[in-house]
Amino acid sequence: MQNTGNLNTLQANGRDDEIERVFRPLPRMVLEANMNPQDLASARKLAEEDFRAYWEQAALDLEWFEKWEQVLDDSQAPRYRWFAGGKCNIVHNALDRHIRTVNRNKLALVWEGEPGDSRKYTYFELYRAVNRLANALRNLGIRKGERIVLYMPPLPETVIAMLAAAKIGAVHVVVFAGFSGKALRERIQATNARCIITADGFYRNGKFTSLKPLVDAALAADEEDNVDVCVVVRRAGIDVNMTAARDIWYDDLVRREANEAETEIMDSNDPLFILHTSGTSGKPRGIIHSHGGYMTGVADTIKSVFDIKPTDFFWCTADAGWITGHSAVVYGPLIAGTTTLMYEGHPLYPQADRMWNMVDKYGVSILYTTPTTIRMLMRYGNRFPAQHDLSSLRLLGTVGEAISPETWVWFHKTIGRNECQLIDTWWQTETGQFMISPLPVSPLKPGSVNKPLPGVSADVVDRKGKPKPTNEVGFLAITKPWPAMFTGVLGDEATYDEYFNTIPGVYFAGDVARKDEDGHFWMLGRADEVLNIAGHRLGAVELEAVLCSHKTVAEAAVIGVPDKIKGETAKAFVVPGPNDQICEDPTTDARDAALTDELRQLLRQELGPVAELRSVVFCESLPKTRSGKILRRVLKAQELGQDIEDITVIDEE
Ligand code: PRX
Repeated sequence: MQNTGNLNTLQANGRDDEIERVFRPLPRMVLEANMNPQDLASARKLAEEDFRAYWEQAALDLEWFEKWEQVLDDSQAPRYRWFAGGKCNIVHNALDRHIRTVNRNKLALVWEGEPGDSRKYTYFELYRAVNRLANALRNLGIRKGERIVLYMPPLPETVIAMLAAAKIGAVHVVVFAGFSGKALRERIQATNARCIITADGFYRNGKFTSLKPLVDAALAADEEDNVDVCVVVRRAGIDVNMTAARDIWYDDLVRREANEAETEIMDSNDPLFILHTSGTSGKPRGIIHSHGGYMTGVADTIKSVFDIKPTDFFWCTADAGWITGHSAVVYGPLIAGTTTLMYEGHPLYPQADRMWNMVDKYGVSILYTTPTTIRMLMRYGNRFPAQHDLSSLRLLGTVGEAISPETWVWFHKTIGRNECQLIDTWWQTETGQFMISPLPVSPLKPGSVNKPLPGVSADVVDRKGKPKPTNEVGFLAITKPWPAMFTGVLGDEATYDEYFNTIPGVYFAGDVARKDEDGHFWMLGRADEVLNIAGHRLGAVELEAVLCSHKTVAEAAVIGVPDKIKGETAKAFVVPGPNDQICEDPTTDARDAALTDELRQLLRQELGPVAELRSVVFCESLPKTRSGKILRRVLKAQELGQDIEDITVIDEE
């Protein structure tokens, strides 16, 4: 975590005026919101009285081939089945139906490569490209229910392949291109896929990274795999090894295909995709999402949370390899009929103004990114944003980790001109849709994810499921089913059940949170990254927040390390920031010792003597996933001298 401060810390530092403020939306925003305060009040009322009726209303906004028999079949709970008996296909709603409306010739997808090249697709063009690939996949013999692995960098073909798979009723399994060949192999095996779609490589950080050799190695190492076709997208036109009778260039595959393709009629609960995510066990779990519920939850929440208007230009910086890419780059924006922007490369390439340059160039109106990205760019100060016209922005969003009040305020002020509503959305791979988030009309408290969205019920509870008193820390629980909820964990019913039986009667999100006197939620990190020091529980994120509120700390990660007497104590890994001048003596040792002392005191002061910091290691960067999450378990494994597999996602920024 970086530069995160809790309110007390920041008040102590004399910066309470900004971060303690409640930021009210501009009157214009409220007036024009898709869900204005009256709508919101009645939506919440309806959802409280009958959450099924609320979600049924949302489903009715979409097109179905056949209406459901039951909004929610909970007879086999926790195997909830939304819109049971309904027939649909998400691609019909994301593409097909737009071709009959004014959206037909509107830009659906704009893609920019890292070297500066770009490609644009109208809804009509995207529809045709998807149809051609759908026909080709059918001609390869791929049928409804089959799994297709996409090991793809951010390219238009990634979107096309996801949609083409879904269109024919196949199940896509996107594997982040930053994962290792070993991770790819495991996912191919786990899903029993026969077809893989990949690319020759991609540009990132000024370099061309080859991808195909990793696929070759993964397939060569696996004698048991089923893969008999590997489709390769030509990104750079470099020479790659093509295995006869297995590998085929994407362009050759689709060249002669027809522009129209039947959309497979799916049952609402037929699987749409499998996406692997990390669990507490360290073994990735294949989270399954299905057509009907997922499309309903995603469509409803993106429309209300991001207030999508016909003139918007939507940029979510996530990679399609994560749930944010699925819901907020591909399905959500396309169902909403907006223009979605996709960028291939690194935000610092060729320099730290790349994102501001793109916002300016395309007139991006909604920018959705991660706190890590913001913090990274914040380090470069205000000079770069000031060089670009960011006035097209009207909404900003963040996701994936807690955003500190200080980072929030910088983003809001420097990028959002203090005018854009800043939406911090809490959700997960498993939830599929946004769950706890402000809306365009909500008053905002920097660092809080606001309230559960209409139709979503959440609380902060203890291990037994009893609600925690106001402001007390507990587990985040989702207390009623929601439509975009996952419908299973691949080959692992016990793990699926665990989400629902860890705390009786609710969905256990694995997060620690507190709810304040206004019912606003504050996320404090994963339950599995909670330290227990002498029987006192402390969230790693909470400790990091305090450390990061210190003016010289850019980023910090805290892990629990064994302690003979107290069970566990805290060890911090700290990346010093640009204001790294805290003592006269310029030697590193003296500086480190002085800073360590200050940090110890700060923790003691903010959280009490229990928050004892055993040691601080100063480092250049922290290990992170590409999506920006700090890999505390990597630090912990290093600390304990254990092996940690599959951490090729670490991105040295
Ligand atoms: O710990 C929460 C954190 O990310 C976890 C979910 O990770 P993943 O399934 O990879 O999905 C991330 C993108 C939706 C959560 O359990 N998280 C996500 N959003 C937030 C967050 N923590 C704090 N604030 C958020 N807005």
